[in-house]
Amino acid sequence: MKKHNFTAGPCILNDLVLKDAASACLNFAGTGLSLLEVSHRDKEFDGVMIEARNLFKELLDVPEGYEVLFLGGGASLQFYQVPLNLLKKKAAFINTGTWATNAIKQARIMTQVYGGEVEVLASSEDKNFSYIPKDFVIPEDADYFHFTSNNTIFGTEIRKDFDTKTRLVADMSSDIFSRPVDVSKYDLIYGGAQKNIGPAGATFVLVKADVLGQVERPLPDMLNYQIHIKKDSMFNTPPVFPVYVALQTMKWYKELGGVKVLEKMNLDKAAVLYDAIDSSKLFRGTVATEDRSIMNVCFVMKDEYKELEKEFATFAASRGMVGIKGHRSVGGFRASLYNAMPIESVRALVSVMKEFEAKH
Ligand SMILES: Cc1ncc(COP(=O)(O)O)c(C=O)c1O
Repeated sequence: MKKHNFTAGPCILNDLVLKDAASACLNFAGTGLSLLEVSHRDKEFDGVMIEARNLFKELLDVPEGYEVLFLGGGASLQFYQVPLNLLKKKAAFINTGTWATNAIKQARIMTQVYGGEVEVLASSEDKNFSYIPKDFVIPEDADYFHFTSNNTIFGTEIRKDFDTKTRLVADMSSDIFSRPVDVSKYDLIYGGAQKNIGPAGATFVLVKADVLGQVERPLPDMLNYQIHIKKDSMFNTPPVFPVYVALQTMKWYKELGGVKVLEKMNLDKAAVLYDAIDSSKLFRGTVATEDRSIMNVCFVMKDEYKELEKEFATFAASRGMVGIKGHRSVGGFRASLYNAMPIESVRALVSVMKEFEAKH
């Protein structure tokens, strides 16, 4: 039976990309060696790194003056590394979920050691992060304003680049390449690769080079963006395999027509599922309609049908639906519709929901 992979991350990758990656694991770029056996200093892998950097910039239409890095440590290390490198006096945050909470926590740890202020402008924790706070003013005296553009766990998304004089920093782990971004407003965009880019193990960082080198605190080499830029993401051994798969994924995005095309595909997919939820007798969405994520669709059974949740989970699994269990902090279901998810799988999920509904 065909499996439909709705997992939140690591998650679905495109079949052609996987086939290419599998073949490179046996014979990489005609070297007769596995991608996993060659030195990252070899010219073949160097070519991969250069192309990955360039394609990343091309897809997001990145203006001059920005650098792309592929590092280790996950988005979670960026929660500390970003303020360590960028926060001089103050950084402002909104708290829209677990990952934003973690980013705030790590920034605070940094300021406890080195000084500086962390200001939380607004939070939606009062309603279990089921909406994006709107009632806040981004301070102009902040070095930057940090937000999580897509809240993977709670299924809310900020699909815009804020209109403010303050420089933006965003965690785009789970919606990078899902829409065009006005990069010129950002000092830094980061994320784990394991949703819209490739397998787990690489972290992407897009940073405006001239904002670096302005803090006085000592930076450990591994946490110093300038060192990684100088060494072309090869200061230490880079995550070779994830970077290779990221490159193949980005090539596929380019072939499809780029992020505008991907955005249209993503909007269409999300509409199919949200329409089914909104017209359902059994299911309901968990977040404010205007803040719904097009990447992670969260839904639960209506109160009067709550006891059917387990049965639906088993039924959906028997029809090949994988990874639709909601995160424990929300419950119910979450279907992740990342770039590589075909609309046919979304339609398959909807027909399983309708079939189940017809039985009850
Ligand atoms: C939005 C967001 N930020 C950060 C993280 C943490 O990423 P990592 O596991 O790469 O540290 C995740 C992981 O799911 C995420 O979804």
